[in-house]
Amino acid sequence: MHISTLYASFFFGKNYTLFQLHWRVIARMKKPVFQIFDADPESFSGEVMVLVLEKDKWQDSTLYSRALIEAISHIADSGDLFAKPGQQVWLYPAMMDWKGEKPFQVKRVLLLAIDTAEANHDSLQEKLRLCAGTIAQEARRVGGGDVLIFLPWQLPLTPESTACSLVEGLVLGSYVFSGYKREQVPADGGPERDLRYYIYGDNTAVKEVQRAIKQAQIMSQAVCVARDMGNQPANRWTPADFAAHAEKIGKKKKLQTTVIDEIAMGKLGMEAILAVNRGSALPPSLSVIEYRTAKKYPTVLLVGKGLTFDSGGISAKPPAGMEEMKFDMCGGAAVMAVMQALAELGTSGVNVVGLVPATENLSGSAAIKPGDVVRHYGGLNAEVVNTDAEGRLILGDAIAYGIATYAPDAVIDIATLTGAAVVGLGHHYSCLLANDDRLAKRLLKAGQETGEPLWRLPLGPEYRKQLDSTVADIKNAGDRSAGTITAACYLQEFVGTTPWAHLDIAGTAYNFTEKSYVPKGASGAGVRTLLRALNGWEKLSGA
Ligand code: BES
Ligand code: MN
Ligand code: ZN
Repeated sequence: MHISTLYASFFFGKNYTLFQLHWRVIARMKKPVFQIFDADPESFSGEVMVLVLEKDKWQDSTLYSRALIEAISHIADSGDLFAKPGQQVWLYPAMMDWKGEKPFQVKRVLLLAIDTAEANHDSLQEKLRLCAGTIAQEARRVGGGDVLIFLPWQLPLTPESTACSLVEGLVLGSYVFSGYKREQVPADGGPERDLRYYIYGDNTAVKEVQRAIKQAQIMSQAVCVARDMGNQPANRWTPADFAAHAEKIGKKKKLQTTVIDEIAMGKLGMEAILAVNRGSALPPSLSVIEYRTAKKYPTVLLVGKGLTFDSGGISAKPPAGMEEMKFDMCGGAAVMAVMQALAELGTSGVNVVGLVPATENLSGSAAIKPGDVVRHYGGLNAEVVNTDAEGRLILGDAIAYGIATYAPDAVIDIATLTGAAVVGLGHHYSCLLANDDRLAKRLLKAGQETGEPLWRLPLGPEYRKQLDSTVADIKNAGDRSAGTITAACYLQEFVGTTPWAHLDIAGTAYNFTEKSYVPKGASGAGVRTLLRALNGWEKLSGA
């Protein structure tokens, strides 16, 4: 069950060769498996059977057997189950007896209360995801194994939407990053079991439900891939690992990968990413992953910040909490995960090019210094007044290169770009900045639908003024005010008139533990939003 690999890679490009040994471990628990259950639930002999119930509505189900209805009635009458939403009641069927018979084979029954009053379509889906996240946590707690879930059919959602939210919550909530911890023994002392979820419905729309399950699995697994990258420490996930991963997924149908290495960056004139990289012993990489459908469809350029460790460089960060800067590559991880999922979903109607500029930001003796001037791809000269504002430097080169090379119809970048985003919105909204209202609207909607909400901030010349430099075209940091906006202003220099949106996920990319389906560590924020926005993309015309 261990997915561990010994990686040995040789790097050329710097004036020396570095031999790097990786003992990289991902996770112990395998991906959960899903299946539609079409036998009699009473015959199910797994670890847990789960019923999601709502006060005064649970009786409407045609799915529950007489024995179950009787048991639920008892508990509902006690007032315990519907005391508050999220309330759990556990039954042990071995202790139950119905007319002298033992109706259930399953070890445990979990009754879970949900309250859908005043919920709209999007918030209902989020409630279901949260519910499913709780189910996944409980399933893990009992040591995995077979879990049967009654599809909460009573909600005003299609069976597909219900299944989709449920599966998202289950996959995302089942995620653990435990590769560097000793194996855990389940509470009953038994061996570690794989997780298998059985969905039991009323047999309507089976095809659609199956399709929804499959799609939700792909999207949520992609989130888990992004989480895995993010959770790896910086010595186990380097710019070379980004490039290697890009090459690996480039072998998938419809995907094509090119990696721009240090030498090619030099030839192309990407001095900014090279400048950020100079303080690090590891070479940078710029992965280009193309998802091609048909020429007639528009092209969207995605750019993700792949800063595998951000010490601040010479403008050093304070030591407390600096370990979190291994997460400074979560935007890049999101883009790679999205590219992989697009190919697996077979998303149509859009071509997507994903760029992931990757490097460390360290303070080696060749490191870039405050006051240095660097020339971006395309010619913009930037005065680096703060080496800790490195994200915009590497993104600037990548965005300029991506627009010049692919002439995209829209650009979306995603980055853990500013501490100010955390100060401004905390951990519950990502910041959205855009030069195009339609693109902004589309992303806001996608964020709402996926439970990854965004909040739009303004842009404008009055903010851009903070970046005026006396020696160069621009400087890379303004004063302390409006840090998220000025960072976006910097990026805007590279987009010209192309519709562009910027997602600052500094507050949402990691250690955001408020949700049952989002564990501590990397959250995979942005992956599902981007996939949702790209699904059914049509040309951004005129407006
Ligand atoms: N990676 C950081 C932003 C960050 C901070 C992400 C906290 C997550 C949590 C980025 O490279 C950075 O250091 N930004 C500076 C910019 C400043 C020097 C203009 C910041 O936000 O302090
Ligand atoms: Mn920084
Ligand atoms: Zn950074």
